[in-house]
Amino acid sequence: MAEMKTVGVVGSGQMGSGIAQLAAVHGLDVWLLDTDPDALIRATKSISTSINRFVSKGLLSQAMGIHAMKHLRCTTNLEELHSADIIIEAIVETEDVKKTLFLKLDKIAKDSAILASNTSSISITRLASATSRPSQVIGMHFMNPPPIMKLVEIIRGADTSDETFYATKALAERFGKTVVCSQDYSGFIINRILMTMINEAFFTLYTGVATKEDIDTGMRLGTNHPMGPLELADFIGLDVCLSIMRVLHAGLGDSKYSPCPLLLQYVDAGRLGRKHGIGVYDYRTAPQTVKPSPKL
Ligand SMILES: NC(=O)c1ccc[n+]([C@@H]2O[C@H](COP(=O)([O-])OP(=O)(O)OC[C@H]3O[C@@H](n4cnc5c(N)ncnc54)[C@H](O)[C@@H]3O)[C@@H](O)[C@H]2O)c1
Repeated sequence: MAEMKTVGVVGSGQMGSGIAQLAAVHGLDVWLLDTDPDALIRATKSISTSINRFVSKGLLSQAMGIHAMKHLRCTTNLEELHSADIIIEAIVETEDVKKTLFLKLDKIAKDSAILASNTSSISITRLASATSRPSQVIGMHFMNPPPIMKLVEIIRGADTSDETFYATKALAERFGKTVVCSQDYSGFIINRILMTMINEAFFTLYTGVATKEDIDTGMRLGTNHPMGPLELADFIGLDVCLSIMRVLHAGLGDSKYSPCPLLLQYVDAGRLGRKHGIGVYDYRTAPQTVKPSPKL
């Protein structure tokens, strides 16, 4: 496959905006799409702030920063993604919503385009089944925040071709990432292990074993994790964590993946984590004992 020139990113939230930034900084033309125009405004602002931070730290030249912003275009019109060599989906972690999008993307994307999903847990094979090009559908799972984290987990669906795999791997490596490859089973490698730990941290809080601060401090200092599991859950988004637990539970069929009732209750209450100002911790008021999130 020829070198990719244009990337489409669908969903301009935490992950989509970071993926768009990465692609623009690495010289690709980027179309960033969201159904919510306000999300695109927020994304452009956060990408610009993040790029400026890279420039001020001397990690990116000012010229490259300006160049990257010029490579970035935002849209609410799916048709604009027709020119993309690869379209990376980063919308809500709900299978039906993603499938509906893949059906539409299959119709508007050029024949050679790869359709990738940044899903944390949903079956790539099932997303691919919504399209007429299952050999060109793949999982490209970036970690949060994409401009900083070094890993991309690549997931091959049942029919993903070698050509699609190697082109996607080459793109991740062009972004400076290390690639690991997972079979297409719920949660893949990272979230199967990580979310089970986060869910257990919720059970530890729910059953009164310890306070949230002691759970996080215990795991930070006791196991050398940079963030405690509850802080990390707030950073990821409790809604995202709950969706992933539901996918693990349904896909792997073991009660050990059943979401903790406390996680469910927080999501029902709109306590979705840092992005909503409150999750396990309250970010709206007094100084927190938790560490600040990684700066982009
Ligand atoms: N948050 C994380 O730490 C993390 C890490 C790795 C992967 N992921 C995965 O990335 C994806 C996105 O997660 P996020 O945290 O960025 O979510 P988010 O809620 O921050 O952003 C989702 C964006 O998608 C948009 N959207 C929803 N439906 C859409 C549609 N049909 N078409 C276009 N745009 C649509 C929303 O308006 C929103 O701006 C999920 O699949 C999630 O599992 C998340």
